[in-house]
Amino acid sequence: MRILTTTLTAVAALTAVTCAQAQDVEVLHWWTSGGEAAALNVLKDDLSGQGIGWQDMPVAGGGGTQAMTVLRARVTSGNAPTAVQMLGFDITDWAKEGALADLNTLADQNKWGDVIPAALQKFATHDGKWVAAPVNVHSTNWVWANKAIMDELGISQPQTWDEFVAAMQKAKDAGYTALAHGGQAWQEATIFDAVAMAAGGPEFYQKAFVELDEDTLSSDTMKEVFDRMGTLRGFVDDNFSGRDWNLATAMVINGDAAFQLMGDWAKGEFLNAGKTPGEDFLCYRFPGTQQQVTFNSDQFAMFDQDGAVSDQQAALASAILSPGFQIAFNKVKGSVPARTDLDVAELDACGQQGYEEFKAAAASGNLFGSFAHGHANPAAVKNAMYDVITAHFNGEYDSATAVDELVTAVQINK
Ligand code: BGC
Repeated sequence: MRILTTTLTAVAALTAVTCAQAQDVEVLHWWTSGGEAAALNVLKDDLSGQGIGWQDMPVAGGGGTQAMTVLRARVTSGNAPTAVQMLGFDITDWAKEGALADLNTLADQNKWGDVIPAALQKFATHDGKWVAAPVNVHSTNWVWANKAIMDELGISQPQTWDEFVAAMQKAKDAGYTALAHGGQAWQEATIFDAVAMAAGGPEFYQKAFVELDEDTLSSDTMKEVFDRMGTLRGFVDDNFSGRDWNLATAMVINGDAAFQLMGDWAKGEFLNAGKTPGEDFLCYRFPGTQQQVTFNSDQFAMFDQDGAVSDQQAALASAILSPGFQIAFNKVKGSVPARTDLDVAELDACGQQGYEEFKAAAASGNLFGSFAHGHANPAAVKNAMYDVITAHFNGEYDSATAVDELVTAVQINK
């Protein structure tokens, strides 16, 4: 069914080929929730202030898997969009194909190299060429909590896995959905990101997801990670299957659920609903990952249509990296700026915490690209991992079988 939907979306995208005017940018992205759309408007408004029109090419589906399928179809048919939201290794893969415009002139003029951290440059550049403009830094190892429920039940910030399980049990016993969750593969992988980091620590994460080390992938610790996923499965409601992530966030916003485990794009939903961190909702690092940050960075790659960067593409890329835009956009999106030289006093408490933690984690060797969001491995490995994680979450495999399946999936796809 998922394949069918994706194919139909791809066909629709091909047949509804937009007739972008010369002065327009056509932007392919997956920012379709309320909070995401609000953030995207900051970019649209910035460009329209410069007289540049916007041809919107939204492809729903958190994490961007469907968007990448549509992109492939568009490029194959010789009709690449002007600019595309992309993550991590997807950028590298397209750069290797020679499909992306060279942004070096712009990057040199604006000294991007001095202000974009190395962890982001790793993906924004390829073979000495800037090929993408980083918009932000998200991180995936967050817990979002409904403050009124925490107060009512006397739950303080869980510091360990056991405390977190006890907190979820308390919420469940009180009649709440303990864990708001949307049963889609990328959401399960997003949770797995944090659970794996907490259960195994940074070295385990590096070996398993970055180096794809077989001993680590097949270890008892990996079985423990799956066991913990099974525990979490016991705290979701009956209707979780297929639910979009933002609807899960809404359950926490509305006081139906106590917690959601999700990247900080969830904060964009709380803010869009008029909620305030510290008053209506709380942001915690996933228990056991207080020192670590698993990050992903949304970047815009420009497709090389005529051999050179067009004026519109250059305007889009410079707008994205301008200090004012970085603050204005990330305030709404839930992420933090991609530049390290900014005063973030305007960000809310969770945003300021996220910005400091990103920098501290980078300095102490605790910053890792999120495997769930394409920053640890190319799409083939990522998607193969998704399949195993989601099959286990849905009860198709016990933990020991899931470990074996993970090892095989990686062997075949790496
Ligand atoms: C992107 C976010 C987006 C989220 C849900 C992530 O992969 O980095 O910008 O909000 O998916 O759609």
